[in-house]
Amino acid sequence: MKKRIGILNSGGDCAGLNTVIDAVVKSLSVNDEYEIIGFYRGYEGLLEGNYVQLDKAYTSQHRWIGGTILKSTNKGNFPCKKEDEEFDSQELEIIERAYKNYTDLGLEGLVVLGGDGTLYTAYRLQKFGFNIIGIPKSIDNDLNATTFTFGFHTAVQLANNAIDALHTTANSHDRIMILEVMGRDAGWIALYSGVAGGANIILIPEIPFDYSEVKKFLDYRYDTLNKSSIIVVSEAAKDIYNESTFNNWDPLTKGQIRYGGIGQKLADYINQNTNYEARSTSLGHIQRGGSPIAFDKVISTQLGAFGARLVRDAKWGTMVTYNDNGISEVSLDKGVLSLKLIDPNSQLVQIAREIGISFGNKS
Ligand code: F6P
Repeated sequence: MKKRIGILNSGGDCAGLNTVIDAVVKSLSVNDEYEIIGFYRGYEGLLEGNYVQLDKAYTSQHRWIGGTILKSTNKGNFPCKKEDEEFDSQELEIIERAYKNYTDLGLEGLVVLGGDGTLYTAYRLQKFGFNIIGIPKSIDNDLNATTFTFGFHTAVQLANNAIDALHTTANSHDRIMILEVMGRDAGWIALYSGVAGGANIILIPEIPFDYSEVKKFLDYRYDTLNKSSIIVVSEAAKDIYNESTFNNWDPLTKGQIRYGGIGQKLADYINQNTNYEARSTSLGHIQRGGSPIAFDKVISTQLGAFGARLVRDAKWGTMVTYNDNGISEVSLDKGVLSLKLIDPNSQLVQIAREIGISFGNKS
């Protein structure tokens, strides 16, 4: 009898999900030992028993397409991050229902594609008794155990393309063009796309900025270099007083902060306090859409195939990682319990400064 494995993705979508799903399905199909089912809408599908049989003929038709054939949900019934390691009664009720479906379906284990929230839930489920293999997904690239998550480079490419476009209109009008990008508490998309696209100022959450330093730098550029400038700002960038980030508490996300608006706030500041004209563009969910670029397809294939290898080797409770030494695994708790933020003294930040990029602070 074939062994049965479930696969699901949860949280915000990104490019590469279908590529990972395809790699898992293809790798597990090799000796005809496994049957793979995909749960719809993340963990919700597990709770509702809502799933589809996956075979390589179907998944390979979608491997290069963005989004996810399994659909996703950002906030559902499952536990968000919490300090307390104990299971409370509400969490237990949900997990027990899911576990019943998991055992009724005869699953040997689950492959879970997700970012820090989804993999945190995976860690809780593993603790409860599920067999889980995690695969790190996120445009934010903020998981500590892995150098890169899949989806990140495609988001960076899209932001880079937007910066390229903003350069020409900035030049034509001698304007300050601001691009707001996603990333939550980590400024990776802003840093990588800003360096790639030749931004003049990059503002990230890890380096609080000073509005007056931004103004000084724009003045300096205007007087000595160029009348136009490009600013890339990460959605959660904060000023030195820690108070200008437009974070709204949103009941729809069950208390999770939703970012957005810092670009426009910065444009308002520049328009009101300088003689320059500033315009802000928010790249928004475009960063999560479209097909994966080649690099993301490669790492998605590697991460998915390695995840399948972990399934075959029954290395449950682990997460696949992508590091300088290649693809390997770490235990889920190591993978999900801390975020990877940018070190303000890191080489890439220093190099950016060396080529004249400002981070909006006194360096
Ligand atoms: O974590 C990925 C991400 O795209 C963040 O960069 C962003 O803050 C958030 O998700 C937006 O999520 P949504 O609009 O889907 O709730």
